Amino acid sequence: MTTVPAIPLNNGTAMPQLGFGVYQVPDDEASAAVTAALEAGYRSVDTAALYGNEEGTGRALAGSGIPREDLFVTTKLWNTEQGYDTTLRAFDTSLARLGTEYVDLYLIHWPAPALDKYAESWQALERIHEEGRAKAVGVSNFQPAHLNRLFEESGIVPAVNQIELHPRLQQDALRAFDADNGIVTEAWSPLGRGNGVLDDPAVTGIAAKHGRSPAQTVLRWHVQLGNVVIPKSVTPSRIAENIDVFDFALDEADMAALAGLETGERVGPDPDVLN
Ligand SMILES: NC(=O)c1ccc[n+]([C@@H]2O[C@H](COP(=O)([O-])OP(=O)(O)OC[C@H]3O[C@@H](n4cnc5c(N)ncnc54)[C@H](OP(=O)(O)O)[C@@H]3O)[C@@H](O)[C@H]2O)c1
Repeated sequence: MTTVPAIPLNNGTAMPQLGFGVYQVPDDEASAAVTAALEAGYRSVDTAALYGNEEGTGRALAGSGIPREDLFVTTKLWNTEQGYDTTLRAFDTSLARLGTEYVDLYLIHWPAPALDKYAESWQALERIHEEGRAKAVGVSNFQPAHLNRLFEESGIVPAVNQIELHPRLQQDALRAFDADNGIVTEAWSPLGRGNGVLDDPAVTGIAAKHGRSPAQTVLRWHVQLGNVVIPKSVTPSRIAENIDVFDFALDEADMAALAGLETGERVGPDPDVLN
């Protein structure tokens, strides 16, 4: 079975470089999908209160027989629950739904700047972290301005910034900002969620050259850039395919060709305007 490398986090813990995303997987299908992922060798699962599938995800984790300490569970605070007390309550609810005593990573899902509550929410995450109920805490969809505010107003630097990142939106400046501040960049929609990048001739050409699929080619590109990735699939053959990316390497020309696919087009919302 594939061994996924561990990426060190700034609090002394580490996370698997490749995990399983469950956005848009209904709760009653999440258990089967997560079980297929665990059987394929994934140990990290990325859910969120918003996804409505923490219970199905938790059932699969509990039923797997895999020791809890060998799993890496991420969930996220939804925007409507931002604020100090509301965050603490939302976290308790997520833990109960997941059926676990702690998560490995708890993220603020979006900065939602117009609400102006993310700094306050972050203080609640710091408390949750101090209590050991989240082994690491981080953010998602944060831009440098949002991160700078946390640096000014709090004692701990987020371990992770989970952002939209794929060959059409490569996020070079934000990746560099994260790295300069000791924050691991985690790529959401790493396959571009149906934006056509998997059919791009540059991708299919490199895939054919290595005898790999387009999805494996794109995931390998992420891995070589040092990104954490969380591809989603409900298709068992794709679930297995997507983790099988640690026994081949793209060369410099491949990496340069993929770097040329940037268009700046998002598949999701702009973090400065989503509230
Ligand atoms: N923090 C945030 O704001 C945020 C936002 C969005 C997503 N996320 C996280 O990131 C995860 C991944 O992002 P995503 O779900 O948006 O998009 P994605 O992983 O880039 O793409 C998922 C899509 O690609 C298809 N797919 C998967 N593997 C494939 C393969 N090997 N070949 C061809 N097609 C393949 C899937 O189809 P099937 O499922 O039908 O196989 C699905 O339609 C989410 O599940 C979630 O955990 C976070």
